[in-house]
Amino acid sequence: MAPVATTTTADIAPAPVKPQTQTQVADPGKSRLNGPMKYNGLLDSYKHHEVTPAIGREFASDLQLSALLSSSNADELVRDLAVLVSRRGVVFFRGQDISPDDMMVLARRIGELSGRPAESNMCIHPVSEYTPELVHTPKTQMISAERQNKGGGIRRIHDDLSRWASVAWHSDVSFENVPSDYSMLKVNILPEAGGDTLWVDAYGVLDRMSPSFVEYLETLTAEHNAEFFHQEAENLGLKVRDDIERGNPLNKGSSLIAHHPIIRTNPVTGWKALFVNRGFTHRIDDVTKDESDMILNYLNQICIHNMDLQCRFRWEKGSVALWDNRCTWHSATFDYSEERRGDRASSLGEKPYLDPSSMRKSEGLRQEGNKW
Ligand SMILES: [Fe+2]
Repeated sequence: MAPVATTTTADIAPAPVKPQTQTQVADPGKSRLNGPMKYNGLLDSYKHHEVTPAIGREFASDLQLSALLSSSNADELVRDLAVLVSRRGVVFFRGQDISPDDMMVLARRIGELSGRPAESNMCIHPVSEYTPELVHTPKTQMISAERQNKGGGIRRIHDDLSRWASVAWHSDVSFENVPSDYSMLKVNILPEAGGDTLWVDAYGVLDRMSPSFVEYLETLTAEHNAEFFHQEAENLGLKVRDDIERGNPLNKGSSLIAHHPIIRTNPVTGWKALFVNRGFTHRIDDVTKDESDMILNYLNQICIHNMDLQCRFRWEKGSVALWDNRCTWHSATFDYSEERRGDRASSLGEKPYLDPSSMRKSEGLRQEGNKW
């Protein structure tokens, strides 16, 4: 990708000073960006390749995320990393030595440098274990196949509905009023084969629909519902985290339902993306159930069946994936029985919105004269 114009700190509104009282800030879900950010090409000198034309970039181990964080120009590098991830959807890093603590530092920094609302913090999953220190200093969350076997995981609730692997496609915590911007996963223990993860380009799927249909979708919102986590919590002997704000003042209480625009703007790129997903979106608002089923089925099919908009990552020990939940769906592949463990850091972004002036990715790239 060719470097384009320089991003300056003027692109990001300063973080508001937190009030001294308990009064909430006016809009804790609003991005601080005043306009899209530009990629400056600072990471292009590291060995890399684009995974597919549509989505994904993979870096070799000469780029160490730990080294980026300790560089003298760490902020410039991490800012460029944020823009790169938001443009390519997902970025992979092989052979990483980054520690769980540094993953948290990077997860915080990447959002702060790309305009995340000051009130957004690390994601606290509603079915995370009760750990007292989690309230103030969330740690990386450990992923483990064991939890799936005890009755956890997004695919379990669908057991009576479908055995298709595609039921697990989702965007992280889209059922929250303020969902995730970036997620990062490092796998440390993995099966000999299996456990791959797939991503799909939710910008690119808009080009598979007629402009008039996308225009119609832009008038709609949909319900993202994860009430099934109450049952999952019971299966795991836990309780839904309704006792604290789950990373943003707008994410609290026992309801795990949010309503979001079907097409949202990614503030980092200024491009629009489809924002429903197979896992959590089961009802479009203000249309009949039949219409909702028909449209959601079509939108699911368009993501699941367009393989040229997807990429599949085979993990190795020390691999890291960093993705933008605003413009991708992802799904694990549950085709293994051995142990699989890793560390995950997921952060919250802004409340989803649609800027009517935002472009499709294909239009944006054409205007820039860039291939990706
Ligand atoms: Fe996920």
